[in-house]
Amino acid sequence: MGIITLRQLLDHAAENDYGVPAFNINNMEQGLAILKAAYETDSPVILQASKGARAYAGDIMLSHIVIALSKMYPSIPICMHQDHGNNEATCMTAIGHGFTSVMMDGSLESDQKTPASYEYNVSITAKVAEMAHWVGASVEGELGVLGSLETGEAAKEDDSGAEGKLSHDQLLTDPDQALDFVKKTDVDALAIACGTSHGAYKFSRKPDGEILAMEVIEKIHKKIPKTHLVMHGSSSVPQYLQDLINENGGQMTQTYGVPVEEIERGIKSGVRKINIDTDCRMAITGQFRKIAKEKPAEFDPRKFTAPASAEMEKLCKDRFERFGTAGNAQNIKVITLDEMSKSYAAGELKQFN
Ligand code: G3H
Ligand code: 13P
Ligand code: ZN
Repeated sequence: MGIITLRQLLDHAAENDYGVPAFNINNMEQGLAILKAAYETDSPVILQASKGARAYAGDIMLSHIVIALSKMYPSIPICMHQDHGNNEATCMTAIGHGFTSVMMDGSLESDQKTPASYEYNVSITAKVAEMAHWVGASVEGELGVLGSLETGEAAKEDDSGAEGKLSHDQLLTDPDQALDFVKKTDVDALAIACGTSHGAYKFSRKPDGEILAMEVIEKIHKKIPKTHLVMHGSSSVPQYLQDLINENGGQMTQTYGVPVEEIERGIKSGVRKINIDTDCRMAITGQFRKIAKEKPAEFDPRKFTAPASAEMEKLCKDRFERFGTAGNAQNIKVITLDEMSKSYAAGELKQFN
């Protein structure tokens, strides 16, 4: 079966200059949509589950969905990743349920609302990395707090974002501190803050360098060229999906996401993992609304979920193609967790120069 670690996958992406979208999943339909898109484009995939997704579906269900998908699509390497782990227990229980990678988000305290001190972040992330590496699993850390450079706030609809007003110093990752953080924690990938935030309401206008600081990524990459960078809040919130929702009874106010061309620019500067949840939610909800409006007598849920999955699959395929992920699945020979743990123990997987 092709269950792969984040580290192995991102090493391959770095060697071959591509990025990998990390799509959030909560249920079977999302998993199937992503894997169908991956299969059609021959792309390796990252499926990620938030704490909320684990509470919604249950660890046993989520882990069995991933095993089932890997049996259905044996040619596709699948990484199962914990998104925004808030403490050691969340990360360790994920690994216990077969996740091959975890994010320890120490940019916020365990409540995932209070911005944490640098010392706290280093200490908890290093601890999780040490434990995860014992069993060969990968760790993503985060330095800098996600939030809008326009408002100084984390996304309002995401009840796990930072509370209160954030300064530009908090909202933009410092390249020198990034080097120190990677050295001290031994993370496999580093999520950075550059003005993106979770949810649909990222920017009040098409973003320019004032509100989406891509040059910060370029500076970080120059400092730590070997470190795999992660962009959170990377949904593009496409106009066609806003229209699909609003033309069918939705009431989303006009908003702007991260343009795909900016992500392509990031991929040229070391961005290897691109987190996308909102776009998939919008694809699904848009089709639900369309069917509900066009066929008010319909009551078979499959008549809703099938077009919703097809809409999501179309979006995933586009991202696999635009990020250069397509065509790479066949070139990856999966390394086991056991072999990865030996490489960590031998000190072969350091990410700094
Ligand atoms: O990290 C943000 C993702 O969009 C997950 O959202 O916590 O509602 O599952 P969620
Ligand atoms: P979006 O809300 O932009 O899809 O970001 C998702 C994310 O960063 C999950 O960790
Ligand atoms: Zn995120």
